[in-house]
Amino acid sequence: SDTLVPNGAGSGFVVVANRLPVDLERLPDGTTRWKRSPGGLVTALEPVLRSNKGAWVGWAGVPDVEVEPIIEDGLELYPVPLTSQEVEDYYEGFSNGTLWPLYHDVIVRPVYDRAWWAAYVEVNRRFAEETAKVAAEGATVWVQDYQLQLVPKMLRMLRPDLTIGFFLHIPFPPVELFMQMPWRTEIVEGLLGADLIGFHLPGGAQNFLYLARRLAGQPTSRGTIGVRSKLGVVQVGFRTVRVGAFPISIDSAELDESSRRRSVRERAAQIRAELGNPKNIMLGVDRLDYTKGIDIRLNALQELLEEGRIDPSETVMVQLATPSRERVQSYIKMRGDIERQVGRINGEFARVGYPVVHYLHRPIPRDELIAFFIAADAMLVTPLRDGMNLVAKEYVACHSDLNGALVLSEFTGAAAELRQSYLCNPHDLDSVKDAIIGALDDDRDTKRRRMRSLRRQVLTHDVERWARAFLDALSHGSVAGSALMSD
Ligand code: ADP
Ligand code: F6P
Repeated sequence: SDTLVPNGAGSGFVVVANRLPVDLERLPDGTTRWKRSPGGLVTALEPVLRSNKGAWVGWAGVPDVEVEPIIEDGLELYPVPLTSQEVEDYYEGFSNGTLWPLYHDVIVRPVYDRAWWAAYVEVNRRFAEETAKVAAEGATVWVQDYQLQLVPKMLRMLRPDLTIGFFLHIPFPPVELFMQMPWRTEIVEGLLGADLIGFHLPGGAQNFLYLARRLAGQPTSRGTIGVRSKLGVVQVGFRTVRVGAFPISIDSAELDESSRRRSVRERAAQIRAELGNPKNIMLGVDRLDYTKGIDIRLNALQELLEEGRIDPSETVMVQLATPSRERVQSYIKMRGDIERQVGRINGEFARVGYPVVHYLHRPIPRDELIAFFIAADAMLVTPLRDGMNLVAKEYVACHSDLNGALVLSEFTGAAAELRQSYLCNPHDLDSVKDAIIGALDDDRDTKRRRMRSLRRQVLTHDVERWARAFLDALSHGSVAGSALMSD
C-alpha cells in the first residue's frame, strides 16, 4: 500500500465503519504490518468497496497511533485515531459492554455507564468530522453498524449536501429491551439523520419505526415492511427518512469458485486424513463471542456422546474460534468456560492421539478455512442471537459437491432465508441434538436435496445484490408515500 495524497476534491462514495478493512499489527520487533480485520462486516463490505472504488473511514485497530491515509488497490483508507482510554470507553465499553448485549437480547447484562456514553458521543463526532473532510460535494456516505449510530445526525449537521445511508449489521432489539437504554432518544435521533436506515430483517425495521414515533415523536408510515421492498417512512420535518430490510450476504460466486480449486480440495482431503479419516466431521467457525452459542453445541455434543448417540471413535468436532474483544469481562469468562468444556469432553471421550474436539483459538487463513468448510459433514451454527451469520452462507457456497448439512439456529437472520437447513432452537438442547443427528444421519438424497435448495438461495442472493438493493433505494428514494401515523 502507498501513502495517499488527497487531491482536494474528495471522494464521491464513502464507507464509514468502526474498523478499516485491515488492522495495523505491531510485531515484536517494533515494526508494523496490515492484516485483515475480523468479523462479518468486513467480509461483506470489502468486495463491494473494491468494485465501487470508494473511500473507507475507520479505526486502524490499535490505540494511540496516528496513521497517514493510505491507498490500497485503488481503495482509499482514512484512519481515525483512538486513544487507549477511548478504546476502553467507546469500543470495549459502550459499543461492546452496552450496545452489543442490549441488541442481542440481553444474553449478558448491559452496563449503562455515563462516562462510556460521553466517549461514544465524542468518538462518533470525530468519525463525523473526519468523514465531512473526505466526502466530495454531494457525495454518498454509507455509515455502518452499532458503534456509529450518532454519525448520521452529526454528519448531516456538518454537511447537509450529502446523501447518507446507515446499515445496522446486528439485530435491532425488541422495543421493550431498547427502552432500557438511558440514551434511547439520542440514539433514535442520531439514526434519523440518515436518508435511509437499513436492517437485516423486517422485524428490526418495524421496531425502529415504532420507536421513531414513540421516542422522537415523528409521524411514520403504518404498512408492513418487506424484504428489499415496501420501505417504511419517517417524516422528520421536511425530510423523509426511509427504513427498510436488506439481508446481507457474501461474495457467493467467488467462494464457490475458490472451493472448486484443486489445491483447496486436496487440502480438504488432507484435513480429513489428519483428523484420522473419521466417518463424521462437525465444524464450528466463529468469533469467540457469547452470542454464538459455542457452549450450546458443546453441551449438545457432550450429551450425545453420553447417550451413545454419537460414537467418539467415528466422529470429531473442529471448533475454529477467532479471538475477539479479549479485554471485555464477559468475553474473558466465556473463553474460560468454553476451554473447560472442551477439556472435559476430551477428558471423558478422547483416546491418545484422537481428541473428539479440536479447538483452535486463532484466525484461520482464507483458503484453509474454505478447506475446512469442504471437509465438514455438518456445520454447526447455533447462536442465541445473530443479526445474519455469514458463516452459514459461506459453508453453503463451498458445497457445489452437494455434500454436507447445515445445522442452523432459528435465532439468526440467516434462518429467515435458509429454510432447508436443519433448524433448531438453541434454548432447547433436545432440538439442537436432534438437528445434529438429522444432519449426520439423514440419507444422502435428502441431504443433497436440502443443500441444492440452500445453494440456490445463497448463489442468487449475494452481497452484490444486497449492496445494490440498499444503494439503489438510497439514490432513488422513490417510495409510495403511505399514510403517516403519529402517536
Ligand atoms: P460476526 O460478524 O459476528 O463475526 P459472521 O458469521 O457474520 O459473524 O461473520 C464472520 C466472518 O469472519 C466470516 O466471514 C467468517 O468466515 C470469518 N471468521 C470467523 N471465524 C473465523 C476464524 N476462526 N478464522 C477465520 N475467519 C473466521
Ligand atoms: O458484524 C458485527 C461486528 O460487530 C462488526 O461491526 C465488527 O467489525 C465485527 O463484528 C468484529 O468485531 P470487532 O470489530 O469488535 O472485532
